[in-house]
Amino acid sequence: MIAPTAAGSRPVALVGLPGTGKTTLGRRLAGRLGWQLCDTDAEIERGTGRSPAQIIDLDGEDAFRRIELATLTELLERPRAVIIACGGGLFGEPAARRRLLEAAWVVALDAPDSTLLERLGSASDRPLLRGDVSGRLAELRRRRQRAYAEAHLRIDTGRTSPEEAEAAIRPLAGSIPVPTAGSAYPVIVGDDAAGNLETHLPADCRRVAVVTDRSVEPAARRLAARIAASGREARVVSLAGGETAKSWASAGRLIERLASLELGRRDALVAVGGGSVGDLTGFAAATYCRGIAWLGVPTTLLSMVDSSIGGKTGVNLRAAKNLAGAFWQPRAVLADPALLRGLPSRELASGLGEIAKYAMIADTDLPALLDEGVESAGAGDVETLTPIIERCAAIKAEVVGRDPRESGLRAVLNYGHTVAHAIEAATGYGTVTHGEAVAAGMRVAGRLSTELVGLSAADREWQDRLLDRLGLHPLPPVEAAAVLRRLAHDKKAVGGEVRWVLLARRGEPVLDQSVPADLVRETLEEVLQTR
Ligand SMILES: NC(=O)c1ccc[n+]([C@@H]2O[C@H](COP(=O)([O-])OP(=O)(O)OC[C@H]3O[C@@H](n4cnc5c(N)ncnc54)[C@H](O)[C@@H]3O)[C@@H](O)[C@H]2O)c1
Repeated sequence: MIAPTAAGSRPVALVGLPGTGKTTLGRRLAGRLGWQLCDTDAEIERGTGRSPAQIIDLDGEDAFRRIELATLTELLERPRAVIIACGGGLFGEPAARRRLLEAAWVVALDAPDSTLLERLGSASDRPLLRGDVSGRLAELRRRRQRAYAEAHLRIDTGRTSPEEAEAAIRPLAGSIPVPTAGSAYPVIVGDDAAGNLETHLPADCRRVAVVTDRSVEPAARRLAARIAASGREARVVSLAGGETAKSWASAGRLIERLASLELGRRDALVAVGGGSVGDLTGFAAATYCRGIAWLGVPTTLLSMVDSSIGGKTGVNLRAAKNLAGAFWQPRAVLADPALLRGLPSRELASGLGEIAKYAMIADTDLPALLDEGVESAGAGDVETLTPIIERCAAIKAEVVGRDPRESGLRAVLNYGHTVAHAIEAATGYGTVTHGEAVAAGMRVAGRLSTELVGLSAADREWQDRLLDRLGLHPLPPVEAAAVLRRLAHDKKAVGGEVRWVLLARRGEPVLDQSVPADLVRETLEEVLQTR
């Protein structure tokens, strides 16, 4: 059963040197979000009856760190949403850092030393800064710098007002986590989701190439200006979008361009576009300098709900689609549904085909949202689309988090796709959209599911009615025999036999099913109406 984690379910932890504003900002955020603010030092004092300074003075720093780790563990397990203002050195401790990166969104606050010294005054109540405050601060910065670089988000509280800092952190608090080994990255869905994209860049990133689909270049230029205002060099690399962007030759050209822009190992790419530009840019990020950071800013419905999440990057070869590629996760996916306003209606409908798939494979309130709003979603209404995109992104995040390298569960995302890929190939790539092909594939998989694994007629009819309501372009005439020939070449076939994803009921997929060839042919003929 796929039941995705709700957005906004991870604590937010604020880390940083003394004086960076953890408590002040924590208070503002907690008030604004209605979350509980917990300061680890205050929690320790409440629990032990002694201040951190007293514990360090009497029992030493090691004893204090043990108490601190136990306190943190308890805070991370609280059922209520919390903002954790972390005591100074906590994130520098490997065990605490591991726990925080795994279970919370970590925001590193920073400010120039001069600002910190001004805020700290004599700092007599801070045991780690006693004596030569400025020298001790420089020493702490040197010691903790590498740990802070691992945070999910970075904010310079010397440059930003508390309101701006709070506005940059709030979307992270409400984001969808995509788990990765030992950490996670956020998918932020909403108005101006990419508005603070510079806060997601790596700590030492100096240069950024914003790779954009020409049809959304103005949005990419706005983002590049934002990056430049944060003191980094930002260059826009503009491409004609669509499937032709995803070739081996254009990957080569893009990678050469990155070299000519002198991007280094710590620099980053931003992909602004649909799945084509996203797959290409992610692939360039995976290979340039043996892997650099990248952020995804999806601009088609399909890329918001599907291709931008999960780290599958790649390009097409002459022999087949997506034949060269790499798993390379982005640092963040920032999806602003307002960017869909200029998207051609056929592309929008294509994304809805994937959305219908999510409604069938997972147990969420997506079916209810679609029952109510599929027509306005199809008309591109941003308000209707936003929660729908959020639900789909959460399902995708859950699946890829549980199966990052596509070795099992991730196959559920292929419901309807076995036939869809064969239809796309049989009609000539680009003739039908992916969503149109997926819709036909789902009709076939639905019928097979009823026949073989007990999908109820009611569930299947709900699916087919939804597909009727999506406003998808009808398929051109295509012979079942041609689709069958392509099915035999399915690259996911095992030992020459196609393995199907079917549904026992809505929200309950069954993987790895084999289906008798005669039944496949009959069902295809029925759906394609070629009999
Ligand atoms: N990596 C994955 O996990 C994954 C998953 C599914 C699909 N994909 C890949 O995604 C690709 C398809 O992606 P797509 O459907 O997003 O199509 P796309 O990126 O090819 O874009 C479709 C068209 O819309 C235009 N466009 C993009 N954004 C626009 C906007 N906001 N306004 C106006 N026009 C806009 C593009 O120029 C293009 O002409 C395929 O190559 C597929 O293989 C990858």
